[in-house]
Amino acid sequence: MNIISIINYKGGVGKTTVSANLAGELAWRGKKVLLIDTDAQASLTFSFVKPDEWDSNYKDSKTIKSWFDAISLGKEPEQLKEYIITPNAVNEQLKKSNAGGRIDLICSHLGLINVDLELATLLGGVNMTQSKSNYIKVHGKLRDAIAKLATTTDYDIVLIDCPPNFNIVTKNAIVASEQILIPAKPDYLSTLGIDYLQRSTKELVKEFNEYVNEEGRIDPKILGVIFTMIQVNAGQPIAAQRQYIQQTKRLGVNTLKNYLRENKTIFSDAPQMLIPVALNAYSHPSHSNIVDEIEGIVDEFESLLEAL
Ligand SMILES: Nc1ncnc2c1ncn2[C@@H]1O[C@H](COP(=O)(O)OP(=O)(O)OP(=O)(O)O)[C@@H](O)[C@H]1O
Ligand SMILES: [Mg+2]
Repeated sequence: MNIISIINYKGGVGKTTVSANLAGELAWRGKKVLLIDTDAQASLTFSFVKPDEWDSNYKDSKTIKSWFDAISLGKEPEQLKEYIITPNAVNEQLKKSNAGGRIDLICSHLGLINVDLELATLLGGVNMTQSKSNYIKVHGKLRDAIAKLATTTDYDIVLIDCPPNFNIVTKNAIVASEQILIPAKPDYLSTLGIDYLQRSTKELVKEFNEYVNEEGRIDPKILGVIFTMIQVNAGQPIAAQRQYIQQTKRLGVNTLKNYLRENKTIFSDAPQMLIPVALNAYSHPSHSNIVDEIEGIVDEFESLLEAL
């Protein structure tokens, strides 16, 4: 089971779109995918589940917030698998591929924003030993829970859609991950953000490994940067974007050769259809280009994972 966080500090760069479409294409190819939405905006959740369905069936007890709430209250939460749902529309569509793939989801909750403050109150302690132990408890919970999931479920891959920040919930996602995928727009601020993300991830890993015992050490690797919202001209990104792609490469981080082009019509409509673009019918003239691109991204993504 691969565990991958999809993260960038920068908001609106395509993290959720990449998460949904990677999941869609991987499941179409037969993979069993678990998506975890750790963003209080719940965009990934509402890309697969209707708001009224969420409201009546999941809001009160089947979201990642309920799981974190138990921790904040000092209780042992139920196993993560109790919080998993199987969204209907996308899985109906996936049946058409006959490859046996599936997308499951742990929903988010708009109230997740408050969880961070509550988790923060559990940090610290009367002495160094207790502080270290509390630090590991607060930041390592999701990792422990996903590890348990691996022994009781059949997922091939877990994708964690992160919020555009570096709070305790996001840190839980990084600590739980073996790999990190960074969607980015090729522009000045995104390039700065990638550098900062690399450094803060390194710091988090260093701190966690200092506090944890030897067998508990973590080593999440940056799988790469995937560029999104590319404006294509004559078969390649426009010059202004190429410049920032080059600049990102100079940061020494792997960049995926395949990218996702900008198409507002297709990408802004998809979430309300509850099926990612990768799985939609070829109903729009420019749609097949995009689906080809997503297939290229997933080919590259799978070979990066195989090469590990
Ligand atoms: N390739 C694309 N072309 C055009 N629009 C896109 C593309 N990818 C994403 N979008 C749109 O851009 C907006 C932001 O995308 P998305 O929600 O995936 O980003 P995000 O990084 O997850 O944002 P946040 O930081 O708020 O979680 C959405 O309205 C989405 O529909
Ligand atoms: Mg998002």
